Amino acid sequence: MTATTLTLTLPDDWHVHLRSGELLKAVLPFSAQHFGRAIVMPNLQPPVVKTADAQAYRAEIAAALPENSHFQPLMTLYLTEQTDPNDVKQGFLNGDVTAVKLYPAGATTNSAAGVKNLEAVYPVLEVMESIGMPLLVHGEVVDPEVDIFDREAVFIEKKLQPIRARFPKLKVVFEHLTTKDGVDYVQSCEQYTAATITPHHLVINRNAMLVGGIKPHYYCLPVAKRELHRLALVEAATSGDARFFLGTDSAPHLDHAKQSACGCAGIFNVANTLSIVAQVFENNHALSHLERFVSLNGALFYGLPVNQAQLVLERQLEPLPVPESLSLSQGTLTLFDPLMPVYWAVKQVITP
Ligand code: NCD
Ligand code: ZN
Repeated sequence: MTATTLTLTLPDDWHVHLRSGELLKAVLPFSAQHFGRAIVMPNLQPPVVKTADAQAYRAEIAAALPENSHFQPLMTLYLTEQTDPNDVKQGFLNGDVTAVKLYPAGATTNSAAGVKNLEAVYPVLEVMESIGMPLLVHGEVVDPEVDIFDREAVFIEKKLQPIRARFPKLKVVFEHLTTKDGVDYVQSCEQYTAATITPHHLVINRNAMLVGGIKPHYYCLPVAKRELHRLALVEAATSGDARFFLGTDSAPHLDHAKQSACGCAGIFNVANTLSIVAQVFENNHALSHLERFVSLNGALFYGLPVNQAQLVLERQLEPLPVPESLSLSQGTLTLFDPLMPVYWAVKQVITP
């Protein structure tokens, strides 16, 4: 018989896009409601490249937080070929910046300023390795001749393996893993490599996006792959292996930007992430490993204490309704529909 309530250490989100301005104000309460901390992606326009930019962005987030919120944004810098290793070091040692994000130039939304020549950023990686600062990787090559469904696997061989060989003690988080190749790679590494997995890649494969008409709300990057890859991700996430943890990659775009002839990549999922992930773990008889994936493994890898607060999930008798879209002044924002029955609801957060 399945448990009907679950009390977990309050989860963290190790990869989220909070945006800025009105969109930030609309989406931030969802993150603040269910998560203790989040690693905040730096791909604003213009990107967050210097420690001073991260300080300013953190202040904007803090001002948009609901009253009495304990949510802690953990800031990241967007790596460019001009990044100053000293600025990164100072930002990390002062506690203003937690990690650095590598976007290969052109790989995804707002990545034009990303890295073209990896060797140009080696001085930054060297400093990060010496101070124990994690490098977060968008693991896709951008060569036009590489098929979009193969970009992650090719990235491992062409880009990640050289970084690993050159900087063996650099902490690397392979973000939003989407393939069995990625799972196998992370499992083959020593303790300095880990990966985030999103809720959507645990529940959809590419059919969700392409069968029965093109479904832009299931388009994200890295793009969802075939079923065998989804199964490998589920196995990794539910195994309890400390190298895998939750990063929602919640990436809101207004509906008019997604429902377009050239629609934006990104899925807005933070409102129902924990319900979906709990359901995946239940369906795979792994509820006993849920807390590791959502609340413990990430903190352990980042070298941070786990949250003191707790979150209570309760299993409902009927599936939860599909979340309704949000109406903002500039348009509507669609929430992720996992296309499967989900019974777990977040009941409360208990603060110490
Ligand atoms: C992200 C975004 O919109 O910022 N989109 C996405 O599909 N995940 C960028 C990213 O993380 O690749
Ligand atoms: Zn992302």
